[in-house]
Amino acid sequence: MQTFITESAEETRGFGKKLAAKLQEGTVIALTGQLGAGKTTLIQGIAQGLGIKDPVTSPTFILINEYPSNPPLIHLDLYRLDSETQIEDLGIEDYFEKPAIMVIEWAEKLGTLLPSNAIKIELEVLGDNKRRIAIC
Ligand SMILES: Nc1ncnc2c1ncn2[C@@H]1O[C@H](COP(=O)(O)OP(=O)(O)O)[C@@H](O)[C@H]1O
Ligand SMILES: [Mg+2]
Repeated sequence: MQTFITESAEETRGFGKKLAAKLQEGTVIALTGQLGAGKTTLIQGIAQGLGIKDPVTSPTFILINEYPSNPPLIHLDLYRLDSETQIEDLGIEDYFEKPAIMVIEWAEKLGTLLPSNAIKIELEVLGDNKRRIAIC
């Protein structure tokens, strides 16, 4: 496990931007961490790194957003889902087959549906602006 500390949202975006350079088509990133931990902020950095100009926000009603880049970025936010049935109804398995980079917020909700080769990143709040980012 590798851990990093960031002291601002901007630093977390910078971290995501650097991470993006190492991501390949087919990569699945599983993000966990409480509300406000910085999951969406990290994805904003990844999007920047992939050259995506669209603003990345937390999807409110739409659970899945796809952003054009090469490979495309798929942002999945499972916050509002609570049952595995609901999640299965999304047809998530089909998304895992896509030639894309997939980043999932609240990935723990996927349970056994999460591909075993997913990169797990855990964000933890250490203070107002301080976050711990752990990559497993
Ligand atoms: N070091 C940091 N990294 C990420 N976000 C931070 C940091 N410090 C403060 N913040 C703030 O915390 C909030 C994180 O929100 P968000 O990324 O939406 O979290 P999540 O998606 O995990 O719920 C933002 O308001 C952001 O500005
Ligand atoms: Mg979020």
